[in-house]
Amino acid sequence: MNVPRHIAIIMDGNGRWAKNQGMPRIMGHYRGAEVAEEITRTCIDLGVEYLTLFAFSTENWNRPREEVELLFDLMRNYLKEKKEELIRLGVRLKFIGRRDRVGKDLRRMMEELERETAENYRITVVLAIDYGGRDDILRAVNKLIRLEFDHVDEETFSYFLDLGDIPDPDLLIRTAGEKRISNFLLWNLAYTELYFTDVCWPDFSSEELYRAIEDYSGRKRKFGRVLDE
Ligand code: IPE
Ligand code: IPE
Ligand code: MG
Repeated sequence: MNVPRHIAIIMDGNGRWAKNQGMPRIMGHYRGAEVAEEITRTCIDLGVEYLTLFAFSTENWNRPREEVELLFDLMRNYLKEKKEELIRLGVRLKFIGRRDRVGKDLRRMMEELERETAENYRITVVLAIDYGGRDDILRAVNKLIRLEFDHVDEETFSYFLDLGDIPDPDLLIRTAGEKRISNFLLWNLAYTELYFTDVCWPDFSSEELYRAIEDYSGRKRKFGRVLDE
């Protein structure tokens, strides 16, 4: 198997999964958070270097206030609860997205976790919280304006985006049957291989991940070139 260096996942379908079980949507998010941990472990075992997980988009603020509040409670509790385990596993954590709207407590936790896991090297897990691809690009542009750049190349521009020096994802997985990017990493996904599955995120498993990687392994990545026959 050709294991991707960087896997990005749009973890979708938590609400539908919960509804199918006759449970409130938030239960799908709880189960989804557990799945994220399982998939992180599997990625470590497989030797994946970077795993980027879309947890909350800039558009998700438009959900009912109660769901947004519960989601942020969940993220705070999850990070608090899993902190020691993540460190034990050798996870380097990085957060992408805006930091100015997520609340002081979560912002502090993000900074602390990034600092405390900075030396870990088994895998880099990137959590996208209040992340939007367009917002990422605009924040980079505004940084460049403030620094009075009058010209930038692709490499410099990439560096100013939230992923910084992390290589572009090789494989993007989206669960729950939707076939769209939903404002995820717009710049960085330029040549990423896309994989869609109907399985809702709370039902996603290591087996499903192997299936996606197997599919990816059979792809011919051409980057615009002509491959020798
Ligand atoms: C993904 O599941 C989690 C977030 C976007 C926070 P959804 O909550 O979007 O689940 P569906 O798409 O409504 O089923
Ligand atoms: C994308 O899922 C965002 C996350 C998984 C965090 P959504 O459920 O918000 O996307 P749409 O609304 O179906 O495009
Ligand atoms: Mg959804």
